Amino acid sequence: MAVKILMVCLGNICRSPLAEGILRSKLPENFIVDSVGTGNWHIGHSPDPRSIKIANQKGIDISNLKGRQFSLHDFSDFDYIYAMDNQNYKDIIGLATTEAQKSKVKLILNELFPNENVDVPDPYFGLENGFEKVYHMLDEACEIIAKNLKKNV
Ligand code: 4NP
Repeated sequence: MAVKILMVCLGNICRSPLAEGILRSKLPENFIVDSVGTGNWHIGHSPDPRSIKIANQKGIDISNLKGRQFSLHDFSDFDYIYAMDNQNYKDIIGLATTEAQKSKVKLILNELFPNENVDVPDPYFGLENGFEKVYHMLDEACEIIAKNLKKNV
């Protein structure tokens, strides 16, 4: 069975689609990677053009992704759920009803900085270089995630 990984942010147009594209690019095709938002404003929308652009510069195409909101089904559909920031983490944990569901949810930068609970900053209202910074954080975290996932298969 394919291992399934879900990336979660607030809008599902800036950080989590980028995380989805980056992690997918580091894994073989038998891994399934998806992303969602905790909010509903961007359902069906393409990623933010600044995320598409930075991904493109790194050879990753996320232009066809479409925004989706987190659903309770995602707890059973996915094996690993990575939240981009502490608020996303709290929001998803708040929807979990079992310990098994809660144990799937992790803060993505804890892969890089264990137990430090560092946020991937929301670049939506910031300058364009915020997307470059976010890209590098996610690239480093996804490198570790991919290495560990491939080890465990
Ligand atoms: P994201 O960024 O959570 O990284 O996709 C945001 C995108 C849109 C909004 C907030 C954050 N918004 O308020 O519409």
